[in-house]
Amino acid sequence: MTGNQTPQASPNISFKQHCRQEAETASLAKRLAASIAQFLGQNPEAHFNIALQGDLGAGKTTFARDLIQTLGYEGKVKSPTYTLCEPYLLQSTQHAYTAHHFDLYRMRDPLEWQEAGFAELFDVPGFCVIEWPEKAEGTLPAFDIEIQLTPGAEENERTIAINALSEQGKKIVVALQVNT
Ligand SMILES: Nc1ncnc2c1ncn2[C@@H]1O[C@H](COP(=O)(O)OP(=O)(O)OP(=O)(O)O)[C@@H](O)[C@H]1O
Ligand SMILES: [Mg+2]
Repeated sequence: MTGNQTPQASPNISFKQHCRQEAETASLAKRLAASIAQFLGQNPEAHFNIALQGDLGAGKTTFARDLIQTLGYEGKVKSPTYTLCEPYLLQSTQHAYTAHHFDLYRMRDPLEWQEAGFAELFDVPGFCVIEWPEKAEGTLPAFDIEIQLTPGAEENERTIAINALSEQGKKIVVALQVNT
């Protein structure tokens, strides 16, 4: 056989949903939680990172709260606006893992999170979900999944795009598509 063999580009795994009201955002977060629970059940040592993007009030904290509570956390999930990070200990079918919820909006220096020891949290089994990752200006580890929330014309409308950025991210987002 002759000729150049161009490697097949791997398909861009992404998922987009128009949510007309908050309950639809909540049900999408619940479906993502089911995919995450399935992935962590099969990969108990895994760690992955989710970027939550969108303007002030877009619904990042609301989405993270639904996600963390669906994964089994029974207490309050507050916005980590002042603490920068809130940890949530969770339990899959066979093991414990941690969700670290960050809000970096108030961070003044991109290196502040490294000084606070947050870098160590990026390989603890479980995941980090990060609001305002752009405030860390490229000092964060790579993301596996990116979630973009965009307000629509009506007050409660949001378009939510979920993109896989790594092989791990693909497994989770593919499961989300299958479970839909
Ligand atoms: N479809 C929707 N999805 C998500 N939130 C919605 C929706 N409709 C209305 N809301 C409301 O929008 C607000 C979103 O606030 P939230 O604190 O989650 O935003 P945020 O993106 O985390 O903001 P910030 O950048 O200040 O942290 C909440 O009051 C929520 O009830
Ligand atoms: Mg928030």
